[in-house]
Amino acid sequence: MVSPSTPLSVGKLSIITIMVKVVNCKVISNLQIANQTYELALQGPTSWLKPGKFVNLQIPGFFLRRPMSVCRNNNNTMFIIYRIVGNGTSQLATYHPGTFVNVIIDLGNSFTYDKNYGKPLIIAGGLGLGSVFNLATSFKKRKIAFDMICGFKTKDDVCYIKEVKAINPNAIFCTDDGSYGEKGNIVQIINNHDWTNRYYYLCGSTNMMKAVYRNCQRGQLSLESRMGCGFGACMGCSIKTKKGEKRICKNGPIFFSEDLLW
Ligand SMILES: Cc1cc2nc3c(=O)[nH]c(=O)nc-3n(C[C@H](O)[C@H](O)[C@H](O)COP(=O)(O)OP(=O)(O)OC[C@H]3O[C@@H](n4cnc5c(N)ncnc54)[C@H](O)[C@@H]3O)c2cc1C
Ligand code: FES
Repeated sequence: MVSPSTPLSVGKLSIITIMVKVVNCKVISNLQIANQTYELALQGPTSWLKPGKFVNLQIPGFFLRRPMSVCRNNNNTMFIIYRIVGNGTSQLATYHPGTFVNVIIDLGNSFTYDKNYGKPLIIAGGLGLGSVFNLATSFKKRKIAFDMICGFKTKDDVCYIKEVKAINPNAIFCTDDGSYGEKGNIVQIINNHDWTNRYYYLCGSTNMMKAVYRNCQRGQLSLESRMGCGFGACMGCSIKTKKGEKRICKNGPIFFSEDLLW
């Protein structure tokens, strides 16, 4: 593992030093698991990454790295689920086993749990599942009971049914059009089950997260933004919060709902 320091300097004056962990990982598999959706398995020195952490993948030909949540991982393999949305993810989908990918690992903060939260509700909107799946795994290992909702637009987008059900057989899958699982969007499902007062852990599109945030009481949200550096140096991902300006990549991506100015 290489652990270079990244000094940002003005002339000879070094104003800040940031340590990032850069590793070369080997693609073990890169399988299509749903419409425009892939699961990438990368092998490398990736020790257990806490739930909510993300990594930043270098894709040759692109100046900026592409941030991705670590869906699950063990000592030497991490899994990422991603959707093709543009040129970077299109290129990623062409990677065959044996390809090496340069990855900055262990970025961002992680979800936290307190027993006063009661029985938490894990909510994944689409590939927001990538961020909360590791949390569900960790709750299962710690014998913390939880409910879970995985929402998708339509059945062609649905993935990870077997993996999620292995962790929580009662997890609810829903689609907006009812083509798989319960019919309705995530807010409707929360309301149908009378779960608006449950402590939630949430990741999905910003619009969906705002709807849950307005509809429910308290929780932790994994925020997304376009990112420059991904490790706190460029301020490209700053947001205003009740605790001042925060960088999603460094102070987040996990934020407490009570700190957001939404
Ligand atoms: C902390 C973090 C974790 C993420 N985890 C995952 C994950 O697990 N799986 C996954 O599929 N994606 C994830 N993303 C989003 C992913 O990084 C982008 O989809 C990817 O960088 C797009 O690259 P591209 O070159 O294919 O698309 P681009 O050509 O860069 O963009 C294509 C379109 O996608 C939009 N877009 C690109 N990046 C983002 C972003 N970060 N937020 C919102 N919209 C964006 C652009 O506005 C544009 O409309 C994550 C993002 C962050 C910040
Ligand atoms: S992306 Fe550079 S500070 Fe967050």
